Amino acid sequence: MLWHAAVVACHICYVAFKCESKAIDVVNAVRKNGGIEMIRIDSVKKTFGKTEVLKEISIDIEDGEIFGIIGQSGAGKSTLLRCINGLESYDSGLITVNKNPVHISDKRNLRQIQKKMGMIFQGFNLLERLDVYQNVALPMKFWGISTNTPEAKEKILKLISLVGLEEKVHAKPRELSGGQKQRVAIARALVLDPEILLCDEATSALDPEITKGILALLQKINREMGITIVVVTHQMEVVKQICQRVAFLSQGKVLAVGKPEQLFVWPKEHEIRDFLREESDKLPSTGVNLKLFFFGEGNQRPIVTQMAQELHTDFNICWAKLEDFREDVYGSLVLNMDEKDLERACAFLDSKNVTWEVIPR
Ligand SMILES: Nc1ncnc2c1ncn2[C@@H]1O[C@H](COP(=O)(O)OP(=O)(O)OP(=O)(O)O)[C@@H](O)[C@H]1O
Ligand SMILES: [Mg+2]
Repeated sequence: MLWHAAVVACHICYVAFKCESKAIDVVNAVRKNGGIEMIRIDSVKKTFGKTEVLKEISIDIEDGEIFGIIGQSGAGKSTLLRCINGLESYDSGLITVNKNPVHISDKRNLRQIQKKMGMIFQGFNLLERLDVYQNVALPMKFWGISTNTPEAKEKILKLISLVGLEEKVHAKPRELSGGQKQRVAIARALVLDPEILLCDEATSALDPEITKGILALLQKINREMGITIVVVTHQMEVVKQICQRVAFLSQGKVLAVGKPEQLFVWPKEHEIRDFLREESDKLPSTGVNLKLFFFGEGNQRPIVTQMAQELHTDFNICWAKLEDFREDVYGSLVLNMDEKDLERACAFLDSKNVTWEVIPR
């Protein structure tokens, strides 16, 4: 049984425990350094047989940020995550974590790196026979740390409380909802004081309301414990709600990296438009389609009605959306107009500092 537990713990946590267990202090510690590199992925290539799965991937992830990796199924997201924590080897390029090279052949160094990483998955991976407390304690057992000391008990209970499961300390996984199971998995991933939390589709099996709760918890962990979080997902709402920056992967390549609002309010790449299933194929085929973008307080201004009055003309509003990105609201709308009005409309928008784009046919 212990062997089985050890194997599962190994696959779940990849981290070791600091023997002196200053756990509770660490839970409250802030590690944010701001702008300091935590993970560097430099020209990484990976093939499975003849299939090139990662093609010269380069991404830098800073200490203390919540970084998203998004893209279609099969884009290489999980493979990249597994290369970061040394579960998977890569063929060329270099990955460093805290300036430490991740090479699967250097087992000793890899173990040191894996000490710093917790991981959560879509399937939770809890042991059914164990209750919440025992599941959270499992990685400590795996690393030979006593779970019977007052400090260890306090730490485990504190983490269970952090994830909001005080009432469920002795419940078995079968008595928990999906969201509660993921909370246990998060507490378990934190029990060895990681500096990085890797999440692979952690909310994909959960309904939208439960997803919001889990994302809020991840934000809290990032904010209060200073843990760098890497979130692999195909869900836009995950990226929009919590990611400070995001990389869009397409067929093993990084198509774009930036703030989610930069990438997704005004996507230039057709792969990203396809991913978002944007409006472009449903727009009128006559006249000109002009897309307007509103950021922050720009959303409040009656630009379109002003423009219609000032230019003495009418426009069709074909499509509009308002989106939340973390705390900000971003809006965009598409107007259809006569070709002859375009120049004056653009001059008007420029005078009001509104960003616009003519949607190409
Ligand atoms: N162990 C493996 N052996 C062979 N091919 C693999 C292996 N793991 C992944 N692949 C292939 O690598 C590609 C990328 O897979 P990966 O799991 O990284 O994609 P993903 O972006 O995480 O997709 P999803 O959103 O469906 O989880 C796929 O074509 C997949 O079939
Ligand atoms: Mg995947």
